[in-house]
Amino acid sequence: MKKNVSITLLLVSFLSFSQPKTIDQKVNALLKQMTLEEKIGQLNQYTGDNAATGPITINPNKQAEIKQGLIGSMLNILGTQYTRQYQELAMQSRLKIPLLFGQDVIHGYKTTFPLPLAEAASWDLNAMELSARIAAVEASASGIHWTFAPMVDISRDPRWGRVMEGAGEDTYLGSKIAYARVKGFQGKLGDVNSVMACVKHFAAYGAAVGGRDYNSVDMSERMLWETYLPPFKSALDAGAATFMNSFNDLNGIPATGNKYLQRDILKGKWNFQGFVVSDWGSIGEMVSHGYSKDNKEAALQAITAGSDMDMESNAYRYHLAELVKEKKVSITLIDDAVKRILRKKFELGLFDDPFKYCNPEREQAALNNPEHRKAARDIAAKSIVLLKNENRILPLSKETKTIAFIGPLVKERKQNMGFWSVELPEVDYDKHVISQWEGVQNKVGNSAKLLYAKGCEIEGDNKDGFAEAVAVANQADVVILSIGERRDMSGEAKSRSNLRLPGVQEELIKAIQATGKPIVVLINAGRPLIFNYTADTVPAILYTWWLGTEAGNAIADVLFGDYNPSGKLPMSFPREEGQIPIYYNHFNTGRPAANETATNYVSAYTDLKNSPKFPFGFGLSYTTFDYSDLKLSKNKIKSTETIEVSMTITNSGKVAGEEVVQLYLRDKVGSVVRPIIELKDFQKIKLNAGETKMVKFTIDKQKLSFYNTDLKWITEPGDFDLMIGSSSSDIRLKATFELNN
Ligand code: NOJ
Repeated sequence: MKKNVSITLLLVSFLSFSQPKTIDQKVNALLKQMTLEEKIGQLNQYTGDNAATGPITINPNKQAEIKQGLIGSMLNILGTQYTRQYQELAMQSRLKIPLLFGQDVIHGYKTTFPLPLAEAASWDLNAMELSARIAAVEASASGIHWTFAPMVDISRDPRWGRVMEGAGEDTYLGSKIAYARVKGFQGKLGDVNSVMACVKHFAAYGAAVGGRDYNSVDMSERMLWETYLPPFKSALDAGAATFMNSFNDLNGIPATGNKYLQRDILKGKWNFQGFVVSDWGSIGEMVSHGYSKDNKEAALQAITAGSDMDMESNAYRYHLAELVKEKKVSITLIDDAVKRILRKKFELGLFDDPFKYCNPEREQAALNNPEHRKAARDIAAKSIVLLKNENRILPLSKETKTIAFIGPLVKERKQNMGFWSVELPEVDYDKHVISQWEGVQNKVGNSAKLLYAKGCEIEGDNKDGFAEAVAVANQADVVILSIGERRDMSGEAKSRSNLRLPGVQEELIKAIQATGKPIVVLINAGRPLIFNYTADTVPAILYTWWLGTEAGNAIADVLFGDYNPSGKLPMSFPREEGQIPIYYNHFNTGRPAANETATNYVSAYTDLKNSPKFPFGFGLSYTTFDYSDLKLSKNKIKSTETIEVSMTITNSGKVAGEEVVQLYLRDKVGSVVRPIIELKDFQKIKLNAGETKMVKFTIDKQKLSFYNTDLKWITEPGDFDLMIGSSSSDIRLKATFELNN
């Protein structure tokens, strides 16, 4: 009996020893069974047949290659039916390694949320996390495992069309948003409602010269570390599973083949354990950069630099095996990349059930979920920025008798989806998206008469519709004019040198102004535009970006005061293109201009003010907020100590509202010059009319540190200015303190 027990025990412990248990053990066991071709297959990603998101240069027999285990991942395959079809092919391969399905789920899936830049204007981290969560719930229900988001590229250049996809110009705000979005997408990875995040584009893509997409980037190491890398680190701290490298070269080395970025920083110093996917064709593009002589050399440079997966270049597929045989690429390097990818497939639970994310009932329920639309409406309203409201034209009264709703964007539906919305083939946009017209109609019902005229197109010089628009305006008590860009004027490959409102739209405003009627302008765009005439002459302006599925309802909520606007600009709005790059946290220079008109031997334009038209952090409300009682717990600290900062904010107006209280610092003297003002914290608070709240912040070492010339993150003793403001140029309270290291 005793003998039997010990034999059983022995057997059990042998079995448990030989059966891989941890994910790493499972990955290693699988790796041992893989041929070199199968390993390289895992590093290969192709697009499917849904709307391609880049130039197609290769056309392999994907079905056959999947069955041979030569493809590890696909993008642009949507829906449980379609993903299932492809996964079934993978299940016919020798080792049955499941495919990973990736997709640009940038601002919602079927329920489309505001553009990421618009959401950033909400400064509401919980709402942004929720928006990413809902996108994950819907996308994962539709067979997607992995979103190519968030884009965390800082950009100070609105000519760059991709600003629509990021969080704007500020590193602190951008880092907070990056964290919230990764948390939202990933939830608990492996949970069926989650998708992997892919933080992109590593790195410095937002600084493309001249704002021209795919262009070169040349920047100092200090600038890279201090301004451009922190949002990536923040996303990593939130647990980001994957990174995407970028199209640009950084100081002469394409990011895709950049060992310093991917191996030394990301996988080295930051100890990133996930995998890096190339951008679309970016491995092959190193040939055009003039960095690789052919696709084979590009493959060698990319894998050596730390790019694990090849999206659409076919460089790994056709050259890696040869490079291994020639001993130019070690099998250890290949194994490392394969392991990183397999690990994620295990973590997602795909080996337990490759069809885990392919449940049509769940898809149906998730994609038509009213809760999701409610959240979309909520964050859409929060993303709107009130730029001007003279004579308190807004909010409009629901009792207004006749409203003229004029402009090329009033009745548009699909335009509201903005760039990078997911093109679901079966969606009827006419039913799915709320137009502005419909939103206002829903709001006023029969109590107001609503008149419509298109007036003009977004582009072109045709003014034939002006007369009708003027006639309609003449009959109304108030005119709402909806103008802007087309949704595809901002986005990838949508750089513009001219940021004016296109076509004759500002002329339409002039024509309507001749009627003498009060005018409210809605500006729909994916980036900061230049609209000086409108800004100077129209009394009320709402910047509505592109707000997604619930755009019309959200805009109506704000127009009629059911939501009091609380958005604050995440980017500076230039007066003229000549000011770009423009950003609030610049240096003082040796010859700062004392005021906006000084030009003599100072750092200024002779023909233009230095300041932006609308500054970073700016946005009005239907109420007013008073700031008072700034208190600091200490005025002198050591770097190991903290200062508690408090102030009171009072809603001094007649309606409830939300305010983003912004804390800025200036380090007066440093071993490298410091910005004149830098956002270091913020809180979004809600106050009823007449209500007062105390707001508290803590100043710690992290907030006082910067990268010195040796790229060390340090503090230096000296004086600091502390500024509390309602925007970067509306500072309400000030104090100073001293740091003694
Ligand atoms: C190119 C874009 O730069 C990237 O952001 C996107 O994720 C890929 N195409 C895939 O569509």
